[in-house]
Amino acid sequence: MVEKINHLEMQHITKRFPGVLALDDVSIELKKSEILALLGENGAGKTTLMNVLYGLYHQDEGSIFINDKIIEIESPINAMENHIGMVHQHFMLVPNLTVIENIALGYFQDTRFKLDLNLVRTKIMEIAKKYGMAVDPEAYIWQLSVGEQQRVELVKALTLGANLLILDEPTAALTPQQTDELIELLKEMARQDNSIIFISHKLNEVKSVSNRISVLRNGKLVHEGDTVSYTVSELAEEMAGRQINLPKSPEKLEFGEVMLDMKDIWAYNDQGGWGLQGLNLQLKAGEIMGIAGVSGNGQRELADVVSGVRKVEKGNILIDNWNITNHTASQIIERGMGYIPEDRLHEGSLPGFSVRENLILKDYNSSQISSSIFLKKKVIDKFANNLIETYNIKCPDMNTSCASLSGGNIQKVILAREITRNPKVLIAAYPIRGLDIGAAEYVHNRLIEAREAGMAILLISEELEEILDLSDRIGVIYEGAILKVLPGRGTDYKEIGLLMAGVIDE
Ligand SMILES: Nc1ncnc2c1ncn2[C@@H]1O[C@H](COP(=O)(O)OP(=O)(O)O)[C@@H](O)[C@H]1O
Ligand SMILES: [Mg+2]
Repeated sequence: MVEKINHLEMQHITKRFPGVLALDDVSIELKKSEILALLGENGAGKTTLMNVLYGLYHQDEGSIFINDKIIEIESPINAMENHIGMVHQHFMLVPNLTVIENIALGYFQDTRFKLDLNLVRTKIMEIAKKYGMAVDPEAYIWQLSVGEQQRVELVKALTLGANLLILDEPTAALTPQQTDELIELLKEMARQDNSIIFISHKLNEVKSVSNRISVLRNGKLVHEGDTVSYTVSELAEEMAGRQINLPKSPEKLEFGEVMLDMKDIWAYNDQGGWGLQGLNLQLKAGEIMGIAGVSGNGQRELADVVSGVRKVEKGNILIDNWNITNHTASQIIERGMGYIPEDRLHEGSLPGFSVRENLILKDYNSSQISSSIFLKKKVIDKFANNLIETYNIKCPDMNTSCASLSGGNIQKVILAREITRNPKVLIAAYPIRGLDIGAAEYVHNRLIEAREAGMAILLISEELEEILDLSDRIGVIYEGAILKVLPGRGTDYKEIGLLMAGVIDE
């Protein structure tokens, strides 16, 4: 076997896709025990660069050096043989296999090893012990939380001999606590002679985890340096190439009628316990109400019952005075509900379908689009092209599949579709999670416009800054109910933080 990686260099890497110059003469360098943060807005080329390193794509120009020797990485197996491991943005584990079986699959593909489950188990336990990770080798993947699945991916890479780990947006789907745990784990891995390439849009994380940064913009390396010499806002500016301050919603004194009325709602969570326990809230036209809370306190169940995908056991939900309790999702949409879901790839869009199809997903029945059983092709094409232009969706054309777009652009497709339908109530769940600051600014401006247009907006988020910037009122959710409603202005972090922990001081 080749020696471990002490020094990696990617030099003058260029990669073209049809119509796109994804990487333009990019060079990066990484030494043993270093954590390099790769920064850049959506579409800057970060994933492409890492896919080249992992052997999923081959560069059109440029070279890769390991320990000063030039190497060709033809495939992921090749990458693994060279001690390079990658944890993808979307995990690639098989849900109905156990942890051991999933890791053994990696060996199976790698002819250096014979398949021996006991040997795999021993290796997993060694790695888990070395880095102080809790891993149950017999657990099924579907039983694990996102954070645990990610740990399995890391163990898998390490078990297969990696000492350079690539993590592509590893914290996008993690709670703040899981994120802290991951950061500690990565630091420990670096102390034990591994090196790490870390991709994230969350600049606080980048500050706390990395030693150096490399910044990509439109496929070019525009900056590199030591992390300590930057503030978070300087990093944001490097990424975007301009200064960005996220917009705040302008003060407003008058609101419209109650559009969403939730009265004493009870619903189960996925574990069979109570997810919502007597939740009450009222949302008015033209208002943004932020729902703040530690995740797992009923946010998911709240979004689910309003959108009609979870049963309400007790209580009533009214949209503009229409009782929609336990109606189907499509009946609720008809009544004027728009939904920007947490999981944009699976709930919010049909990734295998085109941008055009995704934009009209909910309009197949509306008279504007289908006057007969045939959809009017011309009308749809015009409609889709208009939205692509208005919402500045970056795609080669409307027939591109949604799955190949960046996270920010998928979110624009969903926003375009949901806002254009002009719903009475718009639920936005974690609308900027995983987006870069430029895309976040875009999404926030669209939400503020929707508020101006009179929509009643429920903003579920774990980012307090986002909630404070946008909300007219803030409801703190705790153990399945709204513990207290605070004004959006003049409320400070500390007060919300205490309430999020369930502390009421009255
Ligand atoms: N398989 C592909 N086919 C065509 N274009 C692609 C493919 N993968 C990425 N791109 C394009 O390359 C550019 C860089 O994308 P990507 O590396 O995913 O950016 P990032 O990870 O920084 O968000 C984007 O314009 C994207 O649309
Ligand atoms: Mg990416």
